Amino acid sequence: MSFALVIVGGGRMGSALAEGLLAAQWCEPSALAIIEPSSGQRDILATQFGDSTVLASLELEHVDESSGVLLCVKPDHADAALRSVAAVGASRVLSVVAGLSTARIESNFVVPVAVIRAMPNTPVLVRKGVSAIAGGAHVTSDDLNWAESILGAVGSVLRVSERNIDVVTGLSGSGPAYFYLVIEALIDAGVHQGLTREVSRQLVVGTFEGSAALLNETGETPEELRAQVTSPGGTTAAGLRVLEGRAVRAALLDAVAAAVERSRQLGR
Ligand SMILES: NC(=O)c1ccc[n+]([C@@H]2O[C@H](COP(=O)([O-])OP(=O)(O)OC[C@H]3O[C@@H](n4cnc5c(N)ncnc54)[C@H](OP(=O)(O)O)[C@@H]3O)[C@@H](O)[C@H]2O)c1
Repeated sequence: MSFALVIVGGGRMGSALAEGLLAAQWCEPSALAIIEPSSGQRDILATQFGDSTVLASLELEHVDESSGVLLCVKPDHADAALRSVAAVGASRVLSVVAGLSTARIESNFVVPVAVIRAMPNTPVLVRKGVSAIAGGAHVTSDDLNWAESILGAVGSVLRVSERNIDVVTGLSGSGPAYFYLVIEALIDAGVHQGLTREVSRQLVVGTFEGSAALLNETGETPEELRAQVTSPGGTTAAGLRVLEGRAVRAALLDAVAAAVERSRQLGR
């Protein structure tokens, strides 16, 4: 039996995408298959996705000309997984594997294949991710729409050229970690000033969520919104002066530059 979509690799990313796709009714559960070599993980997936098919390996009969493959394995396993995808003659592949270029994916196939490379981030696990996609040498706008509809089930999607995927990796791929570091430090700051950790956590996480919502809903720039809470000679001005004095802005520029460079190195 063939499937509309075959997810190769049913780990964190693969199962989050399966969950988002089924919640968004992207396809019937019966049209989805997940390939996962680990039997323990297969049991978990079979419980979670009872109406879909969970298999140990990809076989010829699982794929026809209308099937798409979603590659969700770790970079170390990508070559082996791609050999199995090429062997069954898949014609459309969306890969979320970090550092794996469309050219390298294409080189596994003897015929032209539509390859789309994506860089999602961990908030896809709660369907609030942001992903960027880039097409390979043989993609059509239909293929890009197909990829966008898949990642759109777990968040928002932007299209970029492939040379910018490393920038996306260093910015929004690593981005959650930057925000978590700031959140951690602010929670500690509240505790240092006498709040319980739980109260401090609620205040900081609520402020973070509310600030993001305000940015999105008002359409105002971060500079405008920051100016609105910075009264002359007030408390926010006193706090911001310390952050500027410690060059937080320059540190963020350098952090993203370092992450982008590391992504380039890993992709070589
Ligand atoms: N998590 C993120 O935030 C994030 C963000 C952007 C991109 N990505 C990319 O997403 C990919 C998957 O990440 P993840 O966090 O989901 O990893 P993960 O939890 O380790 O999941 C990968 C799964 O693929 C299975 N697998 C290994 N070889 C396979 C094969 N030949 N065929 C089918 N399945 C195979 C693994 O099984 P075993 O455990 O038995 O090896 C594992 O269950 C990575 O390449 C990563 O770069 C992840």
